[in-house]
Amino acid sequence: MEQGKVPGWNEIERMIQNCRRCGLCEQRHSIVLGEGNRQAEIMLVGEGPGADEDAQGRPFVGKAGQLLDKMFSAIDMRREDLYITNVVKCRPPGNRTPLDEEAHACLPILRMQYALIRPKIVVCLGATATRHVYNPEARITRVRGQWLSKNGTFFLPTYHPAALLRDESKKKDVWEDLKSIALKYTEIKGNQ
Ligand code: URA
Repeated sequence: MEQGKVPGWNEIERMIQNCRRCGLCEQRHSIVLGEGNRQAEIMLVGEGPGADEDAQGRPFVGKAGQLLDKMFSAIDMRREDLYITNVVKCRPPGNRTPLDEEAHACLPILRMQYALIRPKIVVCLGATATRHVYNPEARITRVRGQWLSKNGTFFLPTYHPAALLRDESKKKDVWEDLKSIALKYTEIKGNQ
């Protein structure tokens, strides 16, 4: 993600109000920008709001979100330590994967969030975030757990918590990724 001239948070909020840049606007109830610590060193990027998030206007508040909170509390991190957002800010109907055109319409917002937060670590939760944030060619099963450094920020793909709810066998790999995130964070803190 590139950093150019960056609008502030108020401007971003103004830009997305009544957004009609893609078809997801037709059925949404909320635009879920993201939440957490805007000075966080760790940014989490999911796919897009689900039904609970669309109803409440907050990211990761449903079952997957509860698991996400548990995962990060296992490495002693709470929501207040993180910034959490998604590739698309409006719910894809039926929780389908966002289309490329929907993701591309919304990615400028994610880039602006990234440029304002300037996180040291970006965790891509699942295949969609991995493809749109880490590497368009990447397959989550191949690249999970592999750090990529771009312009001083470290990017890590891991499984989406919803995938863990469907397949418990993925938990072992995600636990390795969480330990790796904790270690990277400690290293970064040590170098500051
Ligand atoms: N799944 C996501 O990818 N994002 C959310 O905010 C909730 C569920």
